[in-house]
Amino acid sequence: APMPRFPTGFRWGVSTSAYQIEGAAHTDGRGVSIWDTFARTPGRIADGSSGDVACDHYHRYAEDIALMAGLGITAYRFSVSWPRVLPTGAGTVNTSGLDFYERLVDAVLAHGIDPVATLFHWDLPQSLEDDGGWLNRDTAYRFAEYADLVAARLGDRVKMWITLNEPFIHMSLGHGMGVHAPGRALLFDAFPVAHHQLLAHGLAVAALRARSGSPVAIANNYSPVRRVGDDPADLAAAAAYEALHNRLFTDPLLGHGYPAELGFDDAVVRDGDLDVIAAPIDVLGVNYYNPTGVRAPEEGSPLPFELVPLDGYPRTAFDWPVAPDGLRDLLGWLRHRYGTDLPPVQITESGCAYDDQPDAQGRVHDPDRIVYLDGHLRAVHAAIADGVDVTGYFVWSLLDNWEWAEGFTKRFGLVHVDYPTGRRTPKSSYAWLRDVIATARRETPR
Ligand code: BGC
Ligand code: BGC
Repeated sequence: APMPRFPTGFRWGVSTSAYQIEGAAHTDGRGVSIWDTFARTPGRIADGSSGDVACDHYHRYAEDIALMAGLGITAYRFSVSWPRVLPTGAGTVNTSGLDFYERLVDAVLAHGIDPVATLFHWDLPQSLEDDGGWLNRDTAYRFAEYADLVAARLGDRVKMWITLNEPFIHMSLGHGMGVHAPGRALLFDAFPVAHHQLLAHGLAVAALRARSGSPVAIANNYSPVRRVGDDPADLAAAAAYEALHNRLFTDPLLGHGYPAELGFDDAVVRDGDLDVIAAPIDVLGVNYYNPTGVRAPEEGSPLPFELVPLDGYPRTAFDWPVAPDGLRDLLGWLRHRYGTDLPPVQITESGCAYDDQPDAQGRVHDPDRIVYLDGHLRAVHAAIADGVDVTGYFVWSLLDNWEWAEGFTKRFGLVHVDYPTGRRTPKSSYAWLRDVIATARRETPR
């Protein structure tokens, strides 16, 4: 069946992040981030690689923007590397870092594409980490100063701001489990990392509003909870995981305070903080990859739930279930739970990893990605028909890139990257999406 029609003005985009694509880690005065440090630590990255070169987008951005233009997207979501513009996180500004993002933004605009800038996609300046990182309340204030600096230069041209990317993953994988930078394994004692990121977000909203008339958003990741088992203990486990993954950041952002059932030690929450955090946002960014199976934990587990693989779904190369119905459910859940407090939603990441390799003719066929994107776009359309105000969809990602702890072993791109040479080859999903976007933009011009 043909792709159903999306609303007029629906935003079609791709997303990337600085550390995953830029490379140029030691170029033009960029400072060290926690991911530089983490990637150099033996045993942390699956293939022992780092983002030192990655896709070399810092030098090849013009070629990459030409690929975006060929795709016909109307918005490009990238992230600004905090240590590229403030090498030690605060104080001395690296002007050539700001110059890079200005060149990037101007080139994106020149192709009629809206630049969407994320300010924090996990690459905290190492100097701030040395002072306690997100466990230290001061980091929130440093973030607001950094937001002010970037918006002072680009506030007239960036068309939407995203303060933080997936603060839940940065808290849980980076500070709870230690599988992402900075590699702390504090389990539930990582709560201050949630609070200080949210405070940073709220302070940055004010800073951005003072410098720019563009909409302000945050990108959270969500995973619909699929309860496995019917015991009261399974229900409690599912509710606990729901509160942790889907509500911990969104409840306070939308003015509902922290979920009480998590029982965090909230000594770090000061008077007035919740008001700062609940500053109105214009768009809620939703990153969706998969649902999560949850049941009661084993006796003596340090966690109030156990995560279990879900049967009955096709799986990506990451072993994640392919479940477009989960995206429709999730959007319905957001609308139901937050009602009129929910701002318009944009899907700020959606995508999949497969082992895509060139054939003998050098072409890259990725039929599984086409099936994935087709299903998830139809799920978004169904959610809109259900009454959820969804105003955009960004594919993760434009390019194969450096996938954090997985290094170069997971390919999420619409465009294949041959890392030794940097050569870009659009996959068949790129051509498919180009046709979908062309049809959509013809039917409902912006
Ligand atoms: C996904 C989760 C996944 C996690 C670990 C997130 O982006 O949404 O489903 O478990 O990454 O990499
Ligand atoms: C992150 C991306 C990551 C993607 C796939 C999201 O959690 O924002 O940086 O590459 O998921 O794991």
